[in-house]
Amino acid sequence: MLIPSPKWLRGDDIAASEITPRHVFAARRRLLALAAAGTAGAALSPWLTREARAQQGRHGPKLAATPNNAYVVTEKRTPYEDVTTYNNFYEFGTDKSDPARNAGTLRPRPWQVAVEGLVKKPKVYDLDELVKLAPMEERVYRLRCVEGWSMVIPWLGYPLSELIRRVEPQPGAKYVQFITLADKKQMPGISSSVLDWPYSEGLRMDEAMHPLALLTFGLYGEVLPNQNGAPVRVVLPWKYGFKSAKSIVKIRFVDRQPPTSWNLAAPQEYGFYSNVNPDVDHPRWSQATERRIGEDSGGGGFAALFAPKRKTLPFNGYGQQVASLYQGMDLRKFF
Ligand code: MTE
Repeated sequence: MLIPSPKWLRGDDIAASEITPRHVFAARRRLLALAAAGTAGAALSPWLTREARAQQGRHGPKLAATPNNAYVVTEKRTPYEDVTTYNNFYEFGTDKSDPARNAGTLRPRPWQVAVEGLVKKPKVYDLDELVKLAPMEERVYRLRCVEGWSMVIPWLGYPLSELIRRVEPQPGAKYVQFITLADKKQMPGISSSVLDWPYSEGLRMDEAMHPLALLTFGLYGEVLPNQNGAPVRVVLPWKYGFKSAKSIVKIRFVDRQPPTSWNLAAPQEYGFYSNVNPDVDHPRWSQATERRIGEDSGGGGFAALFAPKRKTLPFNGYGQQVASLYQGMDLRKFF
């Protein structure tokens, strides 16, 4: 997801952005294994403590949900440990391991989401009310990042359309914008200018109303760990991962295509639509194939490097459901 400047973020540093974090991550895994075996010394304790904190999510508050079998990918689920320690959440740093280490400062409660703009019934929702708005479902979706890796994750949430229907969009509402929290006190990454904060994403109205678009509150049977976008995010499985905005505080209905963070940062690299498309490469990463995180054989990490490559599917495998939304559009132009 990195932008071609400053130097350490440039394309010729793909190795640094992709390999090094995984390296570090792999080393940490090994050290954790050592620690579990009682062989690691007290010198490791500073980050072990933080890493251990990230692992606490496993025992975090449960969130009840009913599996919705119409939306279950049967491929192997990405281990919880990978889902919660290999993240992009730049508000907590640009390294894949930063969110798990740093997001302990995020306070996901109390939390409100303002639903505003071109709607008949604007409303500021308290989190508890939002959680109860519609039946909570478990759906197992593929998530494909533009960087060339993917995961299979059991998410907990309900269709975004449930919320949209309740606020009654006006006829002029053509797009939905998601604005996420930007609080320096809670988010150490905000002091970096790597992106314009707050993180902003957007969808066309018909995309937002699509049954696959999930307003998401949890994963693996529990409330969202902070590093995965607590307390509420969207998940849009046919689009690259960066469209799935985390820690949302505003949902705004607008008449024009809203500005989005990655498009503002590097418009030639990140389009507004960002549908997973194996035929349109990112300038620095092929989109034809992907590596599934957690499928490395050694148990010691390096998944992003050594997991077998799989073919990336159009719309991330959700073409049957969503291709009609883009009929007649030149997807090379509207990437
Ligand atoms: N949302 C916010 N607020 N900030 C971010 O940096 N990163 C995006 C997306 N949502 C991001 C965000 C990117 S690039 C990806 S791939 C996904 O979150 C990753 O979600 P995950 O860490 O739960 O897998």
